[in-house]
Amino acid sequence: MATLLHLDASARSRSISREVSAAFADSWRLEHPGAGYVYRDLAADPVPFIDAGWTEICDAVLAAGATDLDRLATLVRTPAQAAAWRIVEPLLTELLAADTVLIGTPMYNYSIPASLKAWLDQVTFPRMSLAPRRFVVATARGGAYSPGTPKAALDYQESYLRDFFAGHFAVTDTVFINAELANSRQDPALSRLRGEHDASYARAVDTARGLGKEY
Ligand SMILES: Cc1cc2nc3c(=O)[nH]c(=O)nc-3n(C[C@H](O)[C@H](O)[C@H](O)COP(=O)(O)O)c2cc1C
Repeated sequence: MATLLHLDASARSRSISREVSAAFADSWRLEHPGAGYVYRDLAADPVPFIDAGWTEICDAVLAAGATDLDRLATLVRTPAQAAAWRIVEPLLTELLAADTVLIGTPMYNYSIPASLKAWLDQVTFPRMSLAPRRFVVATARGGAYSPGTPKAALDYQESYLRDFFAGHFAVTDTVFINAELANSRQDPALSRLRGEHDASYARAVDTARGLGKEY
């Protein structure tokens, strides 16, 4: 059964990245009636930061060359590791059950929010692969970072997620849908860019809706 795991990470409850990810999720769900759909709000219900127990399990994974979930469970030895595993195991099971992973995320400080990084740290272990799962990332950012813009090199949000998913998850075809220039909604100094933002936002919602149908 097709299953979509939908994550949102904005600290705002009404947010642009949430709207764009919802556009994808809504049309995906219409196309896949009865399919699996799991929603996790990483801001409202944050996962804890990893602790020593999880690092010890990761070290044991490296030593054992383990790559699957069942082998990971056999490497848990101490009470601290068992406590870490109780957090990781349901998150990993949820991730591995999905064939499409949809992430709505704001740009914070040129990168991703700590809530999303905390989730990534929890679900990532050495030598794992998430191929052939598909990832779709809906971002919102205050400025513009598209190729050719002055701040393009400062986009550590898309570049980080793209490189990490490819390098560590073996997922090389992540699709990014970016709504740019969001700060023009609040910042009077950027109000001249409001039209460009509106167009970028409308494009993002449209693209998300269209992709949700295709996936
Ligand atoms: C803590 C914080 C840090 C931010 N850092 C950046 C940044 O580095 N670059 C940028 O272009 N916009 C930045 N912004 C603006 C957000 O990316 C923008 O408000 C976007 O709409 C947030 O996504 P959301 O609407 O889904 O919450 C920041 C906003 C906040 C609240």
